[in-house]
Amino acid sequence: MSASPSPSPSPVTFSAVVTRLRAAGCVFAEDEARLILSAGRVPAGIDAMVDRRAAGLPLEHVLGWADFRGLRISIDAGVFVPRRRTEFLIERAVPLARSGAVVVDLCCGSGALGAALAAALGEVELYAADIDPVAVRCARRNLAAAGGTVYEGDLYGPLPAALRGRVDILLANVPYVPTEEVGLLPPEARVHEARVALDGGADGLDVLRRVTAEAGGWLAPGGSLRFETSGRQAPSAMTIVANGGLEPRLAECDELDATVIIATRPSASQPVPDGP
Ligand SMILES: C[S@@+](CC[C@H](N)C(=O)[O-])C[C@H]1O[C@@H](n2cnc3c(N)ncnc32)[C@H](O)[C@@H]1O
Repeated sequence: MSASPSPSPSPVTFSAVVTRLRAAGCVFAEDEARLILSAGRVPAGIDAMVDRRAAGLPLEHVLGWADFRGLRISIDAGVFVPRRRTEFLIERAVPLARSGAVVVDLCCGSGALGAALAAALGEVELYAADIDPVAVRCARRNLAAAGGTVYEGDLYGPLPAALRGRVDILLANVPYVPTEEVGLLPPEARVHEARVALDGGADGLDVLRRVTAEAGGWLAPGGSLRFETSGRQAPSAMTIVANGGLEPRLAECDELDATVIIATRPSASQPVPDGP
C-alpha cells in the first residue's frame, strides 16, 4: 500500500509571496516579500512567515526584528515595535549629547531608543527599564553590545539610587494613547502589542505625569527628559513638565508626524530629594 501523497508545499517564489501578501491587504507587499524571502529560511519556514503576516501579525514580529535608525533591533512577540516617527526623538538628542553621557531609557520596550543613541554617540553609560518581562528580555539582547544594563520594574523603581542626580539624557517614550482610543488602533498594535505598551490612561498622560513628577530627582543639572507625545496632547504635556520644575521645549517634524518635548532641569536647581 502506498502512502497518500502529502500536499504539495505552496511555491515560495517572489511573485507568489507578493500575491499572498497583497491578497491579505499588505500595502507594501513587494518590500515585505523581499524581507521575508531574505530571512534565509527553508520553503516551509517562509510559508509559515507569510501565513503569520497574512493573519495580521506585524511584519516585525514575523521577521523577529525591526529597523530603527539603521540598526537591526530584535523584537519578540508582543513587544512594542519601535515606530519610524520615534527616530526624531533620537535625532534631536544626538547633537547636544556628549560622549560618555549617562543615558536612561525608561519604558524601554525593545531598547531601540537606547541602542540608537548609544550607536550615535559612540560611548555612553546606558541604563534601561521596563515593567514587561518580555520587553526586558528583548532589551537585554539589544543593549548588550552597548554595555547597557536593563532593569525590570515600575518606572524608576528598579534603577540604582546611585543614578539620582546624574542622568544627562532621560528618554521616556511612555504609552500615551488615551484608554478609550486603544480600541481604535490598527489591529497590528491593538491585538499584537501588549496593552501596557499602549494605554496611557484616561487622557493618555498618566504615565507621563508619573515620569515627570520624579524626573527632577534623577536628572543632572542641565540634563533633560525627552519624550514623544501627540500634537493634541502637547499643550497639556508642556504644562505637566513646567509644573514638575522642568523647562519644556517643543520640537516637531512634519515629515515623520512627530512631536517631541525636551524638558530640561535648570542648571542651578537642586535635585528633588525623593520621589512622591
Ligand atoms: C510605547 S512603548 C515604547 C517602547 C520603546 N521605548 C519604543 O519606543 O520602542 C511603552 C513601553 O512602556 C512600558 N511601560 C508601561 N508602563 C510602564 C511602567 N509603569 N513602568 C515601566 N515600563 C512601563 C511598556 O511595557 C512598553 O514597553
